[in-house]
Amino acid sequence: MRQLSEGAEAKVFETEIFGVKSVVKSRQPKAYRIKEIDEELRRTRTKKEAKAMLRAKEAGVEVPGLLALGKFSIYMERLSGKLLKDTKSKVSYAKIGVMLAKMHAANVVHGDFTPANIIIDGEKAYVIDFGLAEIGESVENKALDMLLMKRSVSQKQYKELASTYAKTYSDSKPVFARLADIERRGRYQIRSLA
Ligand SMILES: Nc1ncnc2c1ncn2[C@@H]1O[C@H](COP(=O)(O)OP(=O)(O)O)[C@@H](O)[C@H]1O
Ligand SMILES: [Mg+2]
Repeated sequence: MRQLSEGAEAKVFETEIFGVKSVVKSRQPKAYRIKEIDEELRRTRTKKEAKAMLRAKEAGVEVPGLLALGKFSIYMERLSGKLLKDTKSKVSYAKIGVMLAKMHAANVVHGDFTPANIIIDGEKAYVIDFGLAEIGESVENKALDMLLMKRSVSQKQYKELASTYAKTYSDSKPVFARLADIERRGRYQIRSLA
């Protein structure tokens, strides 16, 4: 299997299932953890990631099709196209605002909503990497999804995105209020948001 990427928790490989091009995202063991705890963490996190992905799909968000679920690995449709962070093609940020709105309306908080976790294929945009996703109503976490994307795109792009988010998600007001609040307080000056 050809390895596509290695993240902090998982490796992603290219593979085939019944002749269909697929990828498998596999959570790797951590030698510094006690084996039983390590396995339990990887198992629950794998399940949580797959659940969040399915819930986003149910909410009408484009995600890779789930093909199979292993104890520590998720087999999914291999998307062609490029990461939003690597593409020069004109991307509709309006569409990305709609995707985030649909996720939040279904109480899926992505947890790492950046241009590194969106794949653009022609006119289509897909959300990937639900590894840090949470199911929940937390306004703070929803605001953090928005903040992370805001810090990663231009002002114009953010405006487009925020405008469709507001139109699509009927409960967006508290999220924007919390976002403004977080920015005022200057909290979350952590490296991933810098
Ligand atoms: N369904 C997919 N189709 C094509 N490439 C993918 C797919 N899922 C992941 N990748 C590739 O693997 C990389 C890492 O996957 P990701 O889920 O973001 O893991 P990590 O948690 O390590 O960031 C992505 O940046 C992308 O290049
Ligand atoms: Mg990622």
